[in-house]
Amino acid sequence: MLLCCSLLTVLLIAVTASALPNTLPGCPARCGDVRIPYPFGIGPDCSLPGFNLSCNKDNATGVKKPYIYNVELINIDLLEAQARIYYPMSWQCYNATSHNVSYYMWSLDFIGDPYRFSDDKNKFFVVGCDTLAYFNGKNQKDSYSGGCVLRCNSAESLTNGSCSGIGCCQTTIPKGINYYEVTFDGNFNNSRVGKFNPCSYAVLAEVNWFNFTTAYVTTSELNETNGGRAPAVLDWAIGNETCEVAQRNTTSYGCRSEHSDCFNSSNGPGYLCNCSRGYEGNPYLPDGCQDIDECALKYPCNGTCTNIPGDYICTCPPGTKGDAKKGTCTPDHGSRISSVKLVIGIVTSTSLALLLLLCIVVSMVYDRRKLLRINEEYFRQHGGRLLLEEIKSKQGLAFKVFTKEELEQATNNFDKNRILGGGGHGTVYKGILNDNHTVAVKKSKIIDDHQKNEFGKEMVILSQINHKNVVKLLGCCLEVEVPMLVYEFVSNGTLFQLIHNRNRTSHISLDTRLEIASQSAEALAYLHSSASPPIIHGDVKSSNILLDDNHNAKVSDFGASMLVPKDETQFATLVQGTCGYLDPEYLQTCQLTNKSDVYSFGVVLLELLTGKKAVYEEMELVQEVAELARRCLNVRGEDRPIMKEVADDLDRLRKFKQHPFLQHNTEEIESLLGEPSSYTKNGISGCYSLEKKGTMDIECGR
Ligand SMILES: *[C@@H]1O[C@H](CO)[C@@H](O)[C@H](O)[C@H]1NC(C)=O
Ligand SMILES: *[C@@H]1O[C@H](CO)[C@@H](O)[C@H](O)[C@H]1NC(C)=O
Ligand SMILES: *[C@@H]1O[C@H](CO)[C@@H](O)[C@H](O)[C@H]1NC(C)=O
Ligand SMILES: *[C@@H]1O[C@H](CO)[C@@H](O)[C@H](O)[C@H]1NC(C)=O
Ligand SMILES: *[C@@H]1O[C@H](CO)[C@@H](O)[C@H](O)[C@H]1NC(C)=O
Ligand SMILES: *[C@@H]1O[C@H](CO)[C@@H](O)[C@H](O)[C@H]1NC(C)=O
Ligand SMILES: *[C@@H]1O[C@H](CO)[C@@H](O)[C@H](O)[C@H]1NC(C)=O
Ligand SMILES: *[C@@H]1O[C@H](CO)[C@@H](O)[C@H](O)[C@H]1NC(C)=O
Ligand SMILES: *[C@@H]1O[C@H](CO)[C@@H](O)[C@H](O)[C@H]1NC(C)=O
Ligand SMILES: *[C@@H]1O[C@H](CO)[C@@H](O)[C@H](O)[C@H]1NC(C)=O
Ligand SMILES: *[C@@H]1O[C@H](CO)[C@@H](O)[C@H](O)[C@H]1NC(C)=O
Ligand SMILES: *[C@@H]1O[C@H](CO)[C@@H](O)[C@H](O)[C@H]1NC(C)=O
Repeated sequence: MLLCCSLLTVLLIAVTASALPNTLPGCPARCGDVRIPYPFGIGPDCSLPGFNLSCNKDNATGVKKPYIYNVELINIDLLEAQARIYYPMSWQCYNATSHNVSYYMWSLDFIGDPYRFSDDKNKFFVVGCDTLAYFNGKNQKDSYSGGCVLRCNSAESLTNGSCSGIGCCQTTIPKGINYYEVTFDGNFNNSRVGKFNPCSYAVLAEVNWFNFTTAYVTTSELNETNGGRAPAVLDWAIGNETCEVAQRNTTSYGCRSEHSDCFNSSNGPGYLCNCSRGYEGNPYLPDGCQDIDECALKYPCNGTCTNIPGDYICTCPPGTKGDAKKGTCTPDHGSRISSVKLVIGIVTSTSLALLLLLCIVVSMVYDRRKLLRINEEYFRQHGGRLLLEEIKSKQGLAFKVFTKEELEQATNNFDKNRILGGGGHGTVYKGILNDNHTVAVKKSKIIDDHQKNEFGKEMVILSQINHKNVVKLLGCCLEVEVPMLVYEFVSNGTLFQLIHNRNRTSHISLDTRLEIASQSAEALAYLHSSASPPIIHGDVKSSNILLDDNHNAKVSDFGASMLVPKDETQFATLVQGTCGYLDPEYLQTCQLTNKSDVYSFGVVLLELLTGKKAVYEEMELVQEVAELARRCLNVRGEDRPIMKEVADDLDRLRKFKQHPFLQHNTEEIESLLGEPSSYTKNGISGCYSLEKKGTMDIECGR
């Protein structure tokens, strides 16, 4: 019961914490009034090594406060990689009755911890009238001693305001100090100057933490106003390695956000993380760095502003040219001809062709309403020129407009022997360009409007993406009725071939499978969460996951994909997808959501795990039994099925397996797929495809 309760609490905390993505799931986001962002954390597994804090009640006030060992933490700054602490001053007091001197000599030891005293935010301060205090410090390299001596004869010489040598002195400290202690020289002990405060104070503290007043020397005011404590600023860093070394171990590497950069610490060992340009948030958490919506934040733009991941595009209003970010748009008098460049002929002719094509696409979008609303807006508002600019700016010089001849030559006139594969959306040929670069050229099989749409769509979608696990679009050819798309060549075939090709004798290790699964999942997660606008792939299957020589996964074939306007799910007029992978819910509702990709990916996972094909007659059984087991293993008893249900389910599955329909082999099943199946129940859905293989299209009656 105790376990249950604590689990529930953890769950509750996890739910409340999820609003602020600044801690690991299940870890407290604050202690008292202090926010605790990761890599700091309270509790086991809540922090990076060395950054654990405790959260204790202050004995005097009863308020909870975070502590590093016994030192109170008052603030954490992720951006500056600094933390502020409050800790006791050291002092020396002369007892005029006993003629004795008493001391309180504080030391702070952060050796082996990720903290060190900031050398530009702190100084060593001494306050008193007859005192000599030493600062003894250590850093990674060496030990240091420094000191400050004070002697004053009359109260008249003291002035308010600055700590400049009379009654108060200060000195700078070296970089990287992570241990320090204070010592006093007993021969400077106030015995001569009885009229002053018999106590002197010394501390390493934040610059400007106090304004000196004469009362600090004549009374015990300094000690009383601050409870005997002073604030100091600590720098921190992750680990004790440089970025390059730390990056070699992906498990322990601290910059977990995809969009983060690493910096060596400037004042000691270890490194720090920052969100990349155009992103903000917590770089130490996976998905911690989020895209900045520059347009919403009114970044400088005197034109049309479009937010893209990591940046924004600002174009001059139609009919003008110039730099809209600087606000220098001037009327465009068509003076482009005057800009003499070698490539001008090619550029103008191809851009004209491109514009023509874009016009076709725009009108197609407008008329047939088959592209997404967001695309319509995109085209209508910004025009095709922006699209071209966007593709160019995203892809840099790598995006190329190819001529028809170039591609014909590269593919040996679309030689049958060069065919790499053919999905529902076109045939893919291997091409070798003049510069001996190998590429993949995708050409539509049949030229109908539907496929034209898909090509346009794929071009728009792929131009938004830059991810190592998504196949790269290198260029296109626009001189033909249906544009041909040119991709990077991924050398090692598809995941489908890897799993199912019987000629392959080599064993695929679980590690490799997991790596492929993880990389494909990352790519899809990126499309769903980090791409802006989000993208639903719509046709996830093992034959759409390409592999390179090192078995790195690259998700491909965006012909069925959708750009999703924020907070809207996607209604389709046509259900597209592949038999065996198609989300049954999508089939019923015609509503394409990112969960549809999750379903298809689940099938890919099962495929990876079992090595069986998606339409393998027992795949769904395996899935069902696994799901049943998962439900039985629910942590909350309430969520588990009753035993009768379990028994019924298993019985049903057993009978289902003995169904004569399922005794046939796969080929026969595929030939029967035209008939709506009568055994559709509880997620075991038949495949209604009219095609034997490949993708399927079904009109939605709405
Ligand atoms: C607070 O009180 C507890 C128990 O009364 C004691 O153990 C602890 O040392 C106190 N902490 C401080 C900072 O005085
Ligand atoms: C962090 O946790 C370790 C192990 O539990 C402990 O030894 C160490 O004192 C803790 N550090 C802080 C600053 O609380
Ligand atoms: C003065 O301090 C020393 C040690 O600090 C102690 O041994 C001695 O008894 C003290 N003398 C008086 C008069 O308190
Ligand atoms: C000074 O010393 C005397 C005698 O040892 C002692 O009674 C008194 O409390 C001391 N005063 C202070 C402020 O410590
Ligand atoms: C310094 O300021 C205090 C009040 O903070 C005042 O009492 C004192 O007279 C001032 N001293 C001088 C020298 O101005
Ligand atoms: C205080 O300082 C004087 C010299 O300034 C020295 O003679 C005396 O021994 C010191 N007293 C103590 C207790 O250290
Ligand atoms: C010190 O004085 C300056 C100017 O008089 C004031 O702005 C600042 O807040 C003071 N600092 C503290 C710690 O009192
Ligand atoms: C300074 O203040 C602290 C906390 O109130 C107290 O423990 C300490 O004895 C004081 N020091 C002096 C020299 O009065
Ligand atoms: C770096 O840190 C690791 C683990 O915290 C430790 O084992 C190693 O000794 C440290 N190396 C140096 C040079 O401090
Ligand atoms: C990587 O870091 C993890 C966690 O600190 C550690 O267990 C593992 O041994 C490290 N791997 C290598 C190759 O150093
Ligand atoms: C980190 O420091 C190492 C060694 O000093 C250096 O080679 C490397 O370039 C630095 N990396 C960064 C990102 O500054
Ligand atoms: C933006 O344009 C307006 C007029 O259209 C002009 O007044 C303003 O200065 C421009 N902004 C910048 C930053 O150039």
